[in-house]
Amino acid sequence: MEVLIRETSEQASLLGAQIVAQLLRRKPHCVLGLATGRTPLRLYDELIRLHRKEGLDLSGVVTFNLDEYVGLPADHSQSYHYYMAENLFRHINIRPEATHVPDGCATDLRAHCVEYEKAIVNAGGIDLQLLGIGSNGHIGFNEPSGSLRSRTWIKILSEKTLRDNAPHFDSPEQQPRHVITMGVGTILEARHCLVLACGSAKSHAVRAMIEGPVSAMCPASALQMHARTTVVLDRAAATRLDHPEHYEWIEKHKLDWQQYA
Ligand code: F6R
Repeated sequence: MEVLIRETSEQASLLGAQIVAQLLRRKPHCVLGLATGRTPLRLYDELIRLHRKEGLDLSGVVTFNLDEYVGLPADHSQSYHYYMAENLFRHINIRPEATHVPDGCATDLRAHCVEYEKAIVNAGGIDLQLLGIGSNGHIGFNEPSGSLRSRTWIKILSEKTLRDNAPHFDSPEQQPRHVITMGVGTILEARHCLVLACGSAKSHAVRAMIEGPVSAMCPASALQMHARTTVVLDRAAATRLDHPEHYEWIEKHKLDWQQYA
């Protein structure tokens, strides 16, 4: 894993945006895997700014989101369809038909999961998958103890994740307990995985992901088996790492062509 530590969440988010923008400039017709949640908001803001001020072109991009709540329609304010439209898609020049978010209201959810996987393959596979990490080590909504080879499917949220995300909902009854999520196996097929994690609440999960054993109890640790994963952290998320100076040494000695600047 490539581990890049920045002092603030602002700097970490801007570096994340730079990594995405670098791919967009190099490969305008790329396939992006996208995440929702609090973590990528600043990164998306920066992509919007780059689009508006520096002409970053997203007209050729195809996107696939990681997950969606089962039972929430696209116009529900807590659905990930709504989140993506509000926080990114309607501010950039992406073609609406090129954006994909799992449909949590599909009549046949299981068939929809299979179709979603096929659509990713038909698009040529994901070039760069953006990921956040749950405080329990989940990626997508792949909760601890799930298979590290899972595919897009309907999953049950853990009590920890429900508690973490409860503030987004008016009442516990409104919070879905089921989601459609790309599986860990699906995520691992992306050509490059980019994990962004900020804040001390993520520090335990971040340590387990990077330095812990590969274990289904921390689904993000499966990324240790991925050929190209970049983890961008702020200092607070990095506090529990045993070897921060090692990651900084590696970054300092990268060759010019390995830099994201
Ligand atoms: C979101 C997703 C989740 C989040 C994770 C962190 O699409 O797949 O894995 O990335 O729950 O959420 P935040 O960023 O809200 O802390």
